Amino acid sequence: MAITINTPADIEGMRLAGRLGAEVLDYITPFVKPGVTTGELDRLCHEYMTNVQGTIPAPLNYCPPGYTPYPKAICTSVNDVICHGIPGDKVLKSGDVVNLDITVIKDGYHGDNSRMFFVGEPSILAKRLSEVTYECMWLGISKVKPGAHLGDIGHVIQQHAEKAGYSVVREFCGHGIGKVFHEEPQVLHYGRPGTLDELKPGMIFTIEPMINAGRREIREMGDGWTIKTKDRSLSAQWEHTVLVTETGYEVLTMSAGTPPPPAIVAAQAAQAVPA
Ligand code: MF3
Ligand code: CO
Ligand code: CO
Repeated sequence: MAITINTPADIEGMRLAGRLGAEVLDYITPFVKPGVTTGELDRLCHEYMTNVQGTIPAPLNYCPPGYTPYPKAICTSVNDVICHGIPGDKVLKSGDVVNLDITVIKDGYHGDNSRMFFVGEPSILAKRLSEVTYECMWLGISKVKPGAHLGDIGHVIQQHAEKAGYSVVREFCGHGIGKVFHEEPQVLHYGRPGTLDELKPGMIFTIEPMINAGRREIREMGDGWTIKTKDRSLSAQWEHTVLVTETGYEVLTMSAGTPPPPAIVAAQAAQAVPA
């Protein structure tokens, strides 16, 4: 199966879904405080999506081959949880770091994004890991343009993470997205420049690096979903949904509260301009 080239109408639908997905993260931000449970964050997001936005939470009952249906509306991945943490009774405490991953469906289109949140004051390590992971995502995004290859994205992410002494999770990747939650291509967060599929205008996919402070190996929990680091080191993740345009990229999961691109990406763009 080939990679979907979205029509102008599809792109409009994906812009709306993307913005709404980002606005759920804006909405939930002030609630991420010591004492709140991950289940309460899920309940609040679920209500906001269904009652305020008129969106559908894509994770709820999502059931890829070999999985059991996902039981909640969002993913809450705390500390050494890499991804797919299931919201529940867990009480967040000062010093925890949590990734909230939101995917909404609006008019049949999916908007998928995630951010890291610090509960109270983060450790120096947690802060740096989150920052480096954010830079990894944006360095990957900055590679997106027609004629570039998926391997260019993976390479720049891997280089940046490993230079900082961190490791890249291999078992999960970014993905094509549109009317389907997960479709071709797989967007690996490691690799070699010039390899894999060539990017073409109209493609839409996520970039969502999972970076571990320690070793890259994973451990699957008994609930059928939660993935943790094998060595119990901290893990961070950021995610955007990105469109390949005629000249570069457009980030679709943008809202008023979206953090700005990191300085490292602005600096790189400035360097690329001939003096
Ligand atoms: N939102 C996740 C992603 O970025 C997928 C979560 S699948 C779920 O691809 F079922 F766990 F929600
Ligand atoms: Co996601
Ligand atoms: Co995704």
